[in-house]
Amino acid sequence: MIYPIVKYGQPVLEKKAVEISEFGTTELLKLVEDMFESMYAAKGVGLAAPQIGVGKRIAVIDISSGEDPAQKLVLINPEIIGTEGAQTGEEGCLSLPTFREPVTRAQKVTIRANKADGEVYEVTGEDLLARAFQHETDHLNGTLYISHISPLKRDLIRRKIRKLQKANEWS
Ligand code: NI
Repeated sequence: MIYPIVKYGQPVLEKKAVEISEFGTTELLKLVEDMFESMYAAKGVGLAAPQIGVGKRIAVIDISSGEDPAQKLVLINPEIIGTEGAQTGEEGCLSLPTFREPVTRAQKVTIRANKADGEVYEVTGEDLLARAFQHETDHLNGTLYISHISPLKRDLIRRKIRKLQKANEWS
């Protein structure tokens, strides 16, 4: 099932999501599958559950955009356990469509997370994957990438969004 993507302005995007404690359930497996489907439909490389209105600590990532099944990652209750270096690059978010801004992030990131069956695993990513790890764990803590840009740029984006909301072009 493809869920609509929740856009900036909805409270669920700015709340800390809740830990998952029950693994391997039909419900959880279905939710993860739906998240991949929704992410691909929206042409994203990462999606956090709050972005489909579900306040749970689940994110999916596929930086190959569906080209390589080996690159599909399910991050449940993810935690960043190591970072190295820095990178600056353009970042966007499905919840803030059409906007992109340069954001400085760690260049290399190691994550510890559960898989959908509960298995704990660790994975290290660099560049775009490291960026996705940081962007998606931020989402689960109620933080959007615009928190990492200058207040001036953030206000400009907010003003543009308010205009779009008034014109009913942002919902
Ligand atoms: Ni995002």
